[in-house]
Amino acid sequence: MRKLAAGNWKMNGTSDSLSEVVTLLAALPSPACDMLLCPPATLLARMAQLAQGTALQVGGQDCHAHAAGAHTGDISAAMLVDAGASHVIVGHSERRTDHHETDAQVLAKAAAAQVAGLVAVVCIGETEAQRDAGSTLDVIGAQIAGSVPEGSTAANLVLAYEPVWAIGTGRTPTIAEIAEVHAFVRARLTARIGAQAAGVRLLYGGSVKPSNAAEIFAVPHVDGALVGGASLKAVDFGAIVKALSLA
Ligand code: 13P
Repeated sequence: MRKLAAGNWKMNGTSDSLSEVVTLLAALPSPACDMLLCPPATLLARMAQLAQGTALQVGGQDCHAHAAGAHTGDISAAMLVDAGASHVIVGHSERRTDHHETDAQVLAKAAAAQVAGLVAVVCIGETEAQRDAGSTLDVIGAQIAGSVPEGSTAANLVLAYEPVWAIGTGRTPTIAEIAEVHAFVRARLTARIGAQAAGVRLLYGGSVKPSNAAEIFAVPHVDGALVGGASLKAVDFGAIVKALSLA
């Protein structure tokens, strides 16, 4: 399967930041993996214009579960498509925490995204307290059962494992811990959506950097990364894309 290097800019970036995209595309016109950046909504259409005809795909960071209506401040999946998006992140831990999003809401958003023609990048991951309590696999299993739409396919689903305690902290699980969770995720996803699960890209996220990318990408069932901080700079994201291209 073709691997995926995805960047999540979170609430970072203004017009000036688009120069990073120009630099990235100049350095990596045709990488051997797929490349996705998810900027804030304010930059989405402009980034999509820059990306047109290139190897870069552009995605949203969230969408509403409904197609349209009285939901001030929200954005529908169809609007993301209209702005040039091919993907949307749903259920990021920051949204699960900041906006109290439940598995059921994440599933509804993912399903709405898929109906609109987007690839849903569904995020799952345990907190530090859950890992310390030994319940990581129970938490992940429940999130897969609760957040992944049943009819998902390899073409409309990407699943990102992001341990909450590894996000923005510089800390990562051990290689053995990543391997354990990713193998478990593949098995649980197979139980949920059947044979299509074999082709779904499973991303690892949480403090992925140029310096640790290669060893993480060597782990079985790691089919790419969801990168936060290191996706903001073309030089760092480019190095991660190159590491994935070699994996
Ligand atoms: P960092 O790479 O900054 O740890 O963020 C990971 C993340 O949350 C990507 O969605």
